[in-house]
Amino acid sequence: MSTPIPQPPGLPVLGNIFDIDPSNTWWSLKTLAEKYGEIFKIKVLGHQIVFIASAALAEEICDEKRFRKYVGGPIVEIRYSVHDSLFVAYEHEESWGIHHRIVAPHLSPESTAGHFDEILLCTDELIANWKTHGATKFQPLKDLNNLNLEATTLSLFGKKLGVIGAAEEHPMIQAMEDATSEAMKRPNRPKLLNWLVYGGKFKKATKVMRSFGAEIVKYRHEHSTGRKDLLSALMNGTDPETGKKLTDEQVIDEIVTMPIGSSTAPCALTSLIMFLLENPEVVTRGREELGRVVGKDQLHHDHLDRLEYIKGVVRETLRLSQAAPGFNIEPIPKTNGDKSPVLLQGGKYQVAHNQPMIIVLAGVNRDPEVFDEPHKFKPERMIGENFERLPAGVKKWFGNGKRACIGKHWAWEFLEVVTAKLIKEIDFEVVDSNYVLKQDGWFNVRPIDFYVKAKARA
Ligand code: HEM
Repeated sequence: MSTPIPQPPGLPVLGNIFDIDPSNTWWSLKTLAEKYGEIFKIKVLGHQIVFIASAALAEEICDEKRFRKYVGGPIVEIRYSVHDSLFVAYEHEESWGIHHRIVAPHLSPESTAGHFDEILLCTDELIANWKTHGATKFQPLKDLNNLNLEATTLSLFGKKLGVIGAAEEHPMIQAMEDATSEAMKRPNRPKLLNWLVYGGKFKKATKVMRSFGAEIVKYRHEHSTGRKDLLSALMNGTDPETGKKLTDEQVIDEIVTMPIGSSTAPCALTSLIMFLLENPEVVTRGREELGRVVGKDQLHHDHLDRLEYIKGVVRETLRLSQAAPGFNIEPIPKTNGDKSPVLLQGGKYQVAHNQPMIIVLAGVNRDPEVFDEPHKFKPERMIGENFERLPAGVKKWFGNGKRACIGKHWAWEFLEVVTAKLIKEIDFEVVDSNYVLKQDGWFNVRPIDFYVKAKARA
């Protein structure tokens, strides 16, 4: 006999519509995970979704022999902007393999190492800017968004935007926010309303993002270069398996997809600053390691591997920030058409043969079965043997299997560089000592209304 999957009470017909705040879905899911634990379900307008919030269940449904990425809901909606690009491609689309094989070599650890100097250059610009901030309070997210877009565009597409330290965010950032927020909200609105009232906003955001992509292509045509970067692969590369190339539209699809994926990193870094302010001993230990390994040298790529404590800080940031808040999974359909229920935990729970499930990392990453004091920021648990001993289910911040984050090596290097530089060179100051964490976001989550002051390390 299986255990029923808990569900909040809800209303007839409308179901659990009031259990999810459409303007802050992930916060609602975090709250439900805290209340219901390892698994729960909700039903909205006849659609049922199961949510997974424990490490053991996450590990089980990350078994690629039984489950795969579910392309549904907001992921399908954002296809309006990026068509069949990597993040949104259906399992059956040939394009995923073609794009993957063209893109992956240019986001490998070796390629990413080749971009170290560009990432460092952008980070140094931000650090120099923050050193002059002094008594002025500011929202780190805005500057980190600009830094991330600058570093992504420079290293992957060879174009310097010049937005670091700018008073305003680059228009691409607002467009990504508008498009992803719209993609999240559309599945729960009537289609007519989406088209009549909100279609314009989606169209405008898409236009801005695709113009950004087109500008990058134009810039490359006008500035011939020997760079063998991601842009060059997108524009000229051939899939080694099929011999196919990307169309002009598909090149823009991927140029737009990369900053959308990458925009998760500044969310994690904003959380990191909050964690550092709450845990001054982490700054002390980080500085001790940086002093020992880097000393008075400029940071270079060879240092990264030796910064064990900084790696622990980055992993703990990924765990607790839940910057990418979750991902979708579904059972792989049986070839013989068998529609019998899928058993989880050896039959403890049963779900339908085609049940969409969402892994809620706010639950999984703070599973009390795995972590003592799961809410505390403790980089030591993410280092060496402690990290190796952790179950695979709590290491899914970059997703799973073949559909895991293709930008994870780039993201890791960026996070490590920025973390090391911030800890080594900047003193942060709390602006509001009563600040209580509140997050929002769409395809990623970040602390909101979070201000700090920054100055050069004393
Ligand atoms: C802290 C930084 C990042 C985190 C936590 C993160 C997390 C994730 C996660 C969880 C997925 C799986 C999504 C799913 O299953 O639906 C994913 C996929 C993806 N990410 Fe990232 N990401 C980060 C940075 C980046 C960067 C820097 C890029 C590009 C340069 C990127 C590009 C992508 C793409 C294209 C996919 C889709 C891959 C596919 O389905 O083949 N991400 N990411």
